[in-house]
Amino acid sequence: MSHPVVQATGVNLHLESGGTPLHILKDVDLTLSSGEVVAVVGPSGSGKTSLLMVLGGLERATSGSIVLDGQALTSLNEDQLAIARRNHLGILFQNFHLVPSMTALENVALSMEIADAGMPWQTIRDRATAALTEVGLADRLTHLPSALSGGEQQRVGLARAMVTAPKLLLADEPTGNLDQETGSRVIELMFGLARTRGTSILLITHDPSLAAKADRQLHMNQGRLS
Ligand SMILES: Nc1ncnc2c1ncn2[C@@H]1O[C@H](COP(=O)(O)OP(=O)(O)O)[C@@H](O)[C@H]1O
Ligand SMILES: [Mg+2]
Repeated sequence: MSHPVVQATGVNLHLESGGTPLHILKDVDLTLSSGEVVAVVGPSGSGKTSLLMVLGGLERATSGSIVLDGQALTSLNEDQLAIARRNHLGILFQNFHLVPSMTALENVALSMEIADAGMPWQTIRDRATAALTEVGLADRLTHLPSALSGGEQQRVGLARAMVTAPKLLLADEPTGNLDQETGSRVIELMFGLARTRGTSILLITHDPSLAAKADRQLHMNQGRLS
């Protein structure tokens, strides 16, 4: 079997809010193997987003170890963390997080420019166009996010996340702002793209019918994962 894409062991996250210490993640263990799709479900406030942030190196765990594609995140400084993120990770947000002043093509291009500053514009444009075509948006390249529907915006988000061929896609309630049918189409698209590229997915969702499509389901409850 190939090595895990991400492996979290004994992860704890303590934060403080207005002087009150909070124990957000409690002894979390999680391993995702290459190409595996894992869904995390659980009530609001249980720590799902915090888990995603810690796994993606966007937030540092207070204790425990996280190994992302063979690299221990605790051993990396902020610059090295940023490099690890852009080389290995794609992230999909509930609120799409597109740059409002940029076209669909520019939004997708931006993620490649960040990942590889030396890439020629022609290559960037061709790849961004191909990524948007794959999500069915070939005729929306020059649209601004405000001129796109929610489902279309999330498909731009998906193209942006996948265009760098990440090892791991972290998706935080990506269908939370979409109706059921649009949401399930975005998820099908996401699973399909991940399968072709061998990308692993950690999918946080409130929707049991979407969670059921994953290889494995985990439950988060008051900071504990089971
Ligand atoms: N930056 C922060 N500072 C203090 N508390 C936080 C912070 N981020 C999240 N929390 C708290 O951590 C808990 C888990 O939040 P979160 O991971 O967003 O849960 P979920 O995504 O499952 O709704 C919540 O009680 C939330 O209020
Ligand atoms: Mg959340």
